[in-house]
Amino acid sequence: MDTLIRQMTAGDTLACAAIACASSIGERYGFQPEVMAATLLAALDSGAELFVAEIGKRVTGFAWIDPKGAFSSAPYLRLIAVDESLRGAGLGSILLGEFETRTAAVGRDWCLLVSDFNKRAQAFYERHGYRKRGELPDFANPGITEILMVKKRMVATA
Ligand SMILES: CC(C)(COP(=O)(O)OP(=O)(O)OC[C@H]1O[C@@H](n2cnc3c(N)ncnc32)[C@H](O)[C@@H]1OP(=O)(O)O)[C@@H](O)C(=O)NCCC(=O)NCCS
Repeated sequence: MDTLIRQMTAGDTLACAAIACASSIGERYGFQPEVMAATLLAALDSGAELFVAEIGKRVTGFAWIDPKGAFSSAPYLRLIAVDESLRGAGLGSILLGEFETRTAAVGRDWCLLVSDFNKRAQAFYERHGYRKRGELPDFANPGITEILMVKKRMVATA
């Protein structure tokens, strides 16, 4: 069955929150499904850009992006998560590609933060061309370092 990418709606927020909570970042940061759902809803209400991957009528993953969220100038991937039972099947790559396509016109390198313990996500980003460019110790939680990863835009040479 094909994967459809569409805008997130209020009706998707509980399913997306459950997906984000069932992950190593959900566990380490203590995400609560109701709190996460409320956060996603508030983001939607404020006009933030969130989209989901859907297979059949099932929401299988989502991403929250900010086209100029990195240093008020570069595309920032705020959150991405795929249903635990479907990881490793290419859905994350589709969502990441959507982030890059939607923000290509911004004309700056793509940025994200990934936690030091999240080795599988780091490998995933590396495979997609992201490189480690900095470290933010104790940034969101004491004892956890956030790693800044950046993907260079191809600069055309004459
Ligand atoms: C990171 C994540 C979005 C990748 O999505 P995905 O659908 O598994 O990605 P793909 O199938 O396109 O690629 C899988 C690759 O991601 C990596 N990966 C990361 N987490 C994985 C997991 N839990 N299971 C399987 N592969 C995982 C592997 O390195 C794998 O590489 P391989 O194909 O060479 O084996 C997804 O694993 C996820 O939701 N993780 C939990 C939430 C999270 O950590 N988000 C990132 C926050 S910075």
